[in-house]
This record gives sequence, structure tokens and C-alpha cells, in this order.
Amino acid sequence: MKSKKRILSGMRPTGVLHLGNYHGALANWKNMQDEYDCFFFVADWHALTSDYENTANIRNNIHEMMIDWLSAGLSPEKSTIFIQSDVKEHAELFLLLCMITPTPWLERNPTYKEQITQLSNKDLSTFGFLGYPVLQAADIIMYKAEAVPVGIDQVPHVEITREIARRFNHLYGNVFPEPQAILTQTPKILGLDRRKMSKSYNNAIFLADPSETIQKKVNEMVTDPQRKRKKDPGDPSICNVYDFHKLYSDETLIEQVDKECRNAEIGCVQCKKAMAANLIEAISPIMEKRQYYSNKPDIVNEIIQAGSEKANAVAKDTMKQVREAIKISSK
Ligand code: TRP
Ligand code: SF4
Repeated sequence: MKSKKRILSGMRPTGVLHLGNYHGALANWKNMQDEYDCFFFVADWHALTSDYENTANIRNNIHEMMIDWLSAGLSPEKSTIFIQSDVKEHAELFLLLCMITPTPWLERNPTYKEQITQLSNKDLSTFGFLGYPVLQAADIIMYKAEAVPVGIDQVPHVEITREIARRFNHLYGNVFPEPQAILTQTPKILGLDRRKMSKSYNNAIFLADPSETIQKKVNEMVTDPQRKRKKDPGDPSICNVYDFHKLYSDETLIEQVDKECRNAEIGCVQCKKAMAANLIEAISPIMEKRQYYSNKPDIVNEIIQAGSEKANAVAKDTMKQVREAIKISSK
């Protein structure tokens, strides 16, 4: 039997996850677990590159994110799930890769330029922030991952990783494969106000939200803005609630809503109620597991510990080869 292809991906610990994170990344990761040898990790050092001034919540965020991952179906039996800072070898490989990475590769990184302007409230003129993709490259090639499932915004980072891996191999001999990005397919899911779903926009539905909160949030969702009353015909194609129906309701209901909305036969309140019920049902297995893990911090910590040990073993082996290739101390 041919061994499974190894993939790796990570997320910065931003706290509890919302439906956008779930459909954008987690659901895909979960589905890849049988086909691939998966490494999933919490990129807590990466969080420091932009949030070094405020570290008070980081530990708690890591824990909550881990609970979301496990509840959403990432399985410690199938995948290696760990925390970046538990594997100190990432720091060593990062340092070594820094020696061979030309700064212009980093300065022309589109994400770098974009973030500097977008996050103007933070001082990001640091060495660490510029080096973000080098640390990411270390994360990826440490495990000799062949592919990296990511959103489109991360593709430049995987590209830089390929360049760094190539340069390393050229200088010191063939140690690393060049990883490919696998673009994750994401269904359209927007925030309550129809902007991108984001914690900072205050428009997100979280995996940790109780059902009553979800119901309340769905009630606040913007619909077809032209439709003021039930007797006004609506246009589902511009309605956020309808997009959610497409994700959570069955074909029959989706078609029925489309027809009845256009013919002014269903009111938005009723339509939202039906959608909210299906949404809650769809994520209730996640909610139940969340409940379970939230009350069992020891179990979560054990899982993290075991995952970090698995990752550590691989990282140790890689670093041995790296030191050998560079011809520096092999201790
Ligand atoms: N930069 C990624 C993000 O913000 C997180 C990340 C860090 C990552 N290291 C990685 C993703 C390695 C994939 C592979 O989403
Ligand atoms: Fe949207 Fe449903 Fe209202 Fe139509 S009836 S506008 S699909 S919420």
C-alpha cells in the first residue's frame, strides 16, 4: 500500500471559531483526515507577530480553539494535532532559514504590504512580522509536507515556502520537498450584515453560541432590503438568509423558500425561523461535543500533549538531517 500523502495546516489562535472559519477551513480539514496523513497545529508564535503587545488571552484562545477543532471532528487518532510553541525545533529551523532568505522576498510579499496598511493601529515594523513567512516555511517543511490546504490569502506564503525549500536544497543538498498549496473550497457564507464574517465586525455566529443566541442573531440578519412587508415579493438571490438555507436546509425547503419568497407567500420571520432550526440541528453535534470538552480541560490537555509528542518526534528527525546538511553541531 502506498503511504498517504502528508499535509499540514495551521491557524493562529484567535479564540472561539465562527461558521466562516468552520466552512472555510475546519470542515475541509476534517474531510481530509482519511485520505491524508494530516498535521494540524495552532500557530501561537505567529499570533505574536502582530499581537505581541497583548498576550493576555493567548493561552485561553489556544484552549478554546483546540476545543472547537476537536468538536468539529478533527481526530487525534487520525491526525497529529499540536501547538507550534510546544515544538521548539520550529524556532531553530526558523533561525536557520532566516540565514538563507533574501529580505526582498519578504518585502514584496503581498500579505505583508496589505497587513501593514490594514492594521495601522498596530506597530508592525518589526523583524518578526517581516519574517512571518519564514516561520511559516519552517512549520511546513519541518514535516516535509507535500501539500498545504489553505485559503487564497495564504497562497503567497506557500509560494515563499517553496522558494525557501528550493534554496535550502540548492545550498545544502536535497532535504525538503517543495509543498503545493491546496486551495480549500469554501461555500459562500457571510456575516449577519452581509460583510465578510469576522469576529472584529461583530457579525459572526460562533460554534460556541447557545441556540438562543443563534436564533437571535438569525433574526437580525439582513434580508432582501427591498422587502419591507410580507406582501412585497422578495429576491432570495440577494438574501443572506437564503444563502444559509442553501447550506443547511434540504432541497425541498430551498426550492419552496425560493418560490414562496418571490411570490410573497412566506414572511421573513418564518423563513428565518426555519433556517435557524436547520442551522442549529446541523451544528448540534459540534455543540454537544463542545459542551463535553469544555468541562474536561484535562482531556484536552492530554490530547495536546500526545499530539505535541508525535510532532516532536518528526521534528527531531528533520532537524538532525538539517544540521547534518548544514554541517553544524549535530547535538
Ligand atoms: N498564516 C496562517 C494563517 O494566518 C497560519 C499558519 C502558520 C499556517 N503556519 C502555517 C498555515 C503553516 C499553513 C501552514 O492562516
Ligand atoms: Fe430572505 Fe426568506 Fe425573507 Fe425571502 S423570505 S427575503 S429568502 S428571509
